[in-house]
Amino acid sequence: MPVEGFMQKSFHFDYELHSTWENLAESDLQLVHLAYEAMDLAYAPYSEFKVGAAVRLSNGLTLKGNNQENIAYPSGLCAERVVLFYAGANYPTESIETICVVARGELMPSEFLLSPCGSCRQVMLETENRQAKKIRVILVNQDKRTMILHSVNDLLPFGFGK
Ligand code: THU
Repeated sequence: MPVEGFMQKSFHFDYELHSTWENLAESDLQLVHLAYEAMDLAYAPYSEFKVGAAVRLSNGLTLKGNNQENIAYPSGLCAERVVLFYAGANYPTESIETICVVARGELMPSEFLLSPCGSCRQVMLETENRQAKKIRVILVNQDKRTMILHSVNDLLPFGFGK
């Protein structure tokens, strides 16, 4: 029996799972390689958890970033935000088409896919809303398994902001 003023709603989204990133399109493969490269260059002496992120911009340019830690722990920054803020600072008129993230370290078993932290999701969401164009998100793990999401909104429904 329906109750007045009450609505049952649901949220649904599609995502892809690939057993290996090796069969992805060339442009995605390039981002995976860049994200791994960035991961190896991370400055993470405190957590020993290295994260790499790579983006492709609408002009075709690719950029990479990684987590940068600090002895005053909260002063450090995650890989996703490093690369997104770099893109925003240097290419404010380009949109982000795809972001790829990979991580390695004992904080997470190697078969797990790194799923961006809440603060990074918030920044990714604002980037997506600001450019009014969905961002593809590619998450890969150490045994090459891959998840592809088609929008940041799928990672952070009901995020703060417009
Ligand atoms: N980290 C990222 O770079 N991205 C995330 O989405 C989660 C966490 C970093 C922050 C810190 O340097 C280390 O991983 C451990 O939390």
